[in-house]
Amino acid sequence: MSHTTWSDVDSYLCGRLLAPSPELDAALQSSAEASLPAIAVAPNQGKLLDVLVRASGARSVLEIGTLGAYSTIWMARALPKGGRLITLEAVAKHADVAQANLERAGVADKVEIRRGNALESMHQLLDEGAGPFDFVFIDADKENTLPYFTLSLQLSHPGTVIFVDNVVRNGSLIDEETNDAQVRGMREFVDHARSERRVEITAVQTVGSKGYDGFAIAYVTA
Ligand code: SAH
Ligand code: DHB
Ligand code: MG
Repeated sequence: MSHTTWSDVDSYLCGRLLAPSPELDAALQSSAEASLPAIAVAPNQGKLLDVLVRASGARSVLEIGTLGAYSTIWMARALPKGGRLITLEAVAKHADVAQANLERAGVADKVEIRRGNALESMHQLLDEGAGPFDFVFIDADKENTLPYFTLSLQLSHPGTVIFVDNVVRNGSLIDEETNDAQVRGMREFVDHARSERRVEITAVQTVGSKGYDGFAIAYVTA
């Protein structure tokens, strides 16, 4: 079993299950042309976000980490009429590419890109009395996953679903000795999560075109 198989199976599944989308393809292409890193969610994970947004009945979504808005477009499309999405991005060039991609995809009217450090933006959202959000996608700097999760809880209500990307990172998650700040960030998040009384949470390993990784998913109960 190899990465080639994982990618081939992803191609097979995406080719059969997902409707073609020139706008999503264009979002990836313009991101590549602008030299953004190729780290957007895979198409079948984008569709997983779509299904989860629909299943949770979300009308408001908070995304932490926009990049070129590929995952943003998937979630924005899944929102009902009148639904809103706020996405947080620190790098101005990423936000510029994202804005153009959102406009091309016809979802710019539903989406606000907040520029700047996501921790500051989340404190700002709290100060403004924004939210609570129905669905949260955490996918920015992995070092800050725990603070993002804690702040997300403050911006949640009972019923909110919180999805955390890149939890497993090729299995490095279980390396107790790691000096990698991103892995340490994920370990802190996982270690804390079990003591968090307000959520039901699990995590699942994944393989595919993006290698071996995994996600956590939490349901806010109180
Ligand atoms: N969700 C996107 C991928 C996001 S990649 C998708 O699947 O399509 C992570 C993004 O988080 C990058 O664009 C990076 O610039 C941004 N980021 C990293 N640290 C950040 C911070 N402290 N505040 C806000 N954004 C940050
Ligand atoms: C990286 C970040 C991501 O959000 C991802 O899904 C894959 C890789 C990274 O920073 O390497
Ligand atoms: Mg990610």
